[in-house]
Amino acid sequence: MIDRLRNKCIIVIGAGSGIGAATVRRLCAEGARVCAADINEAGAKAVAAAARDAGGEAFSTYIDLADEASVNAAVAAAVERLGGLDGAHINAADLQAIMQDSTALDVALDIFDRTLTVNLRGHLLCTRAVLPHLLARGGGALIYTSSGAADGAEPVRPSYAMSKSGLNALMRHVAAAWGRQGITANCVAPGFTITPEMDKSPHLTQAIRDYMQARTPAPRLGQAEDIAGMVAMLLSDDGRWINGQVYHVNGGALMP
Ligand SMILES: NC(=O)c1ccc[n+]([C@@H]2O[C@H](COP(=O)([O-])OP(=O)(O)OC[C@H]3O[C@@H](n4cnc5c(N)ncnc54)[C@H](O)[C@@H]3O)[C@@H](O)[C@H]2O)c1
Repeated sequence: MIDRLRNKCIIVIGAGSGIGAATVRRLCAEGARVCAADINEAGAKAVAAAARDAGGEAFSTYIDLADEASVNAAVAAAVERLGGLDGAHINAADLQAIMQDSTALDVALDIFDRTLTVNLRGHLLCTRAVLPHLLARGGGALIYTSSGAADGAEPVRPSYAMSKSGLNALMRHVAAAWGRQGITANCVAPGFTITPEMDKSPHLTQAIRDYMQARTPAPRLGQAEDIAGMVAMLLSDDGRWINGQVYHVNGGALMP
């Protein structure tokens, strides 16, 4: 593994499982020093411990994107332990609410509110908490996890798609406002990505896998590591001239 991220200090928010956990593993393997933050404290702790066992440098902290004080405390803990920040992968989303995110006509407003609170307002809070620390270092990289759902024109889960569209807009704002000060902001928009947790779930039937594969012009479906690789590149010096973009990582399933 190349060490493009040697000694870079990075917080991964939403690191307790799935894509965030894979990102922690990848960033550590490339030499970064990583804070793994999640509302799932046990998950984040296990992810950080596994990264250390593999020879990396990682620790964990609690964060709840619905709670401003918690966001500020988690970022402060990361900065204190790492001595500053060079980058952040802001990746968390409430994927419980998505199960009841039906249509614009009948979605319950508490599901809409919860989705926007975590997936959009929470990312604004993370941006506010992280950005001053990147500026203090003379620049840095912010990577948000969006979704193909923002551009996919789906007949279901409107709240989720709206939250991810809003996230793309937040990212472009950050890129435009602070680009000259050395900040890069970009979104990674995964397509259907089978995380280790999804792989074990009885809800992910063979019929769903076959349906998604038929819609994907690639020989296999996506894995969390496919997304982590793009995040690592955007956080590295290879990504320093990339700003304000939404990268769809989806095996070609959506070509907006
Ligand atoms: N897996 C896919 O197919 C797919 C496709 C497109 C986009 N995404 C996006 O990728 C990101 C990661 O999703 P994943 O598939 O790895 O699922 P995941 O559930 O494994 O990861 C989401 C993480 O966010 C955390 N989280 C939830 N609510 C939180 C809160 N209030 N505060 C802090 N953390 C919170 C969860 O504990 C979890 O660790 C999400 O933003 C999701 O929208 C995933």
